Amino acid sequence: MKLPQVIAVDGPSASGKGTLSRRVAQVLNYTYVDSGAMYRTLAWYCMRKGMRLEKPMSLDDERAIARQLRSWKAEMKIVDGQAWLHVDDYFPAKEIRTDAVEKAVPIVAQIGKVRDWMVAEQRECAARGPVVMEGRDIGTEVFPLAPVKFFLEADTIERQKRIEGRGGSTDGAWRDSMDINRKQGALIPALDAIRINNTGQTPEETYAILMTHIRERLSLSESLPA
Ligand code: CDP
Repeated sequence: MKLPQVIAVDGPSASGKGTLSRRVAQVLNYTYVDSGAMYRTLAWYCMRKGMRLEKPMSLDDERAIARQLRSWKAEMKIVDGQAWLHVDDYFPAKEIRTDAVEKAVPIVAQIGKVRDWMVAEQRECAARGPVVMEGRDIGTEVFPLAPVKFFLEADTIERQKRIEGRGGSTDGAWRDSMDINRKQGALIPALDAIRINNTGQTPEETYAILMTHIRERLSLSESLPA
């Protein structure tokens, strides 16, 4: 059977999307796409240009950000099975994980034109070959017809502990509430998503659950590596 193109993995911050999506992609030999990194890269780029990325945003502020999308030299590049948005041939891996970007990214991600641009890039990326794509709106907006969709969740306290465990200092709850409450591409589970609350589970346990669903949905053989 021909493998379908997209496995969508959505959920709030620290719900385990990254680790699990990466591993699933590796095992299936799909390209891994971290859609959040794309929004982070735009936030970093605008900050570097000295643009204002704070609430409240005026229409002019939003337009100025959207205008960057027409002039920046950005391109998705696949490196070792992972697709990253490069700007001027550079992927700002470290820079997009700073506290400042962390605060700015949901503000940038609220802008309709920004979301349209990102969604188009994400679709183009999947047109090149099969992907495991993680984010907030992958199963709802980007690939509503994806054959396998997960929505990962974990209790707020556990997620906050995971963020602290990784050395993160910012409040994930603030970012999540911005993501849930925006008009376009809001953080909500797709109606046909498999919802998994992984509070108290090890990554290994959650991974086993995901793979069981993937085998079932894609009719893959049991011999697929664990
Ligand atoms: O790693 P974590 O799940 O905490 O965040 P991320 O995936 O790096 O995403 C950072 C931010 O990008 C999110 O809080 C959203 O504001 C935005 N984002 C989005 O709007 N849509 C997506 N598909 C992915 C991320």
